[in-house]
Amino acid sequence: MRPARGRGKPRGGGGPPAPRIRRTPPRRIIGRGPRARGAPGDAVPAAARLCLETPRLRLRRLRLADARFIHGLVNDPAFVRFIGDRGVRTLADARRYLRSGPLASYARHGFGLYHVALHDGTPVGLCGLVKRDALPDADVGFAFVPAARGRGLAGEAAAAVIEHARRDCGLARLAGVTALDNLASMRLLEKLGFAPDGLVRLAPDGPELRLYGRAL
Ligand SMILES: CC(C)(COP(=O)(O)OP(=O)(O)OC[C@H]1O[C@@H](n2cnc3c(N)ncnc32)[C@H](O)[C@@H]1OP(=O)(O)O)[C@@H](O)C(=O)NCCC(=O)NCCS
Repeated sequence: MRPARGRGKPRGGGGPPAPRIRRTPPRRIIGRGPRARGAPGDAVPAAARLCLETPRLRLRRLRLADARFIHGLVNDPAFVRFIGDRGVRTLADARRYLRSGPLASYARHGFGLYHVALHDGTPVGLCGLVKRDALPDADVGFAFVPAARGRGLAGEAAAAVIEHARRDCGLARLAGVTALDNLASMRLLEKLGFAPDGLVRLAPDGPELRLYGRAL
């Protein structure tokens, strides 16, 4: 990975203060708290039942049973353009994506991308936390189905995820990463209080991306 240019160093031009790089690993306490605590004898692990609620949305951990929804979402043209082609062509591919992505992240970090649905159960997108080896901080990620965009739902979900990162995951700082031309994502991150933090590549041969940061 190529490190972000200027990370941790003062930048010229009176820009935002240099970010503090968190060097300690995030605590794995997603299952802590009354919402995540299970009743004695409950067969469903407490952390797996984590649920964040907002006025219009419910966020929960993804399951293999979400494969059909994931198959549709990750093949949406905007997802492919701005996030990438995940190679998910079949439901089996979608289950593989879930296992190696979000489910592996829950096991490794205690957090990950979450399923976002309206209160009536209609799935509308993904929003959550992604810890990449290439970045010191976890970043907030979001992708919504076309019919759910432009209604402020992504902002509502992301605000809940940011509070979850601080309160449940013990994170002190979050990053955001977007394609250089992803205006909706940039606007959203800025509305959520993220400040530009230079450019970054997540892989040596990967595209240059815009990096954002925010203290919690
Ligand atoms: C990025 C994404 C989640 C934003 O969802 P959304 O539903 O538009 O988000 P919101 O409704 O909360 O709006 C966020 C802001 O972006 C603005 N916005 C949306 N589309 C925009 C566009 N094409 N150009 C400029 N601003 C845009 C909205 O107007 C809003 O700002 P405002 O409240 O000042 O009007 C959605 O477009 C998406 O899923 N895109 C495909 C996947 C993706 O790119 N994910 C991000 C990867 S970093």
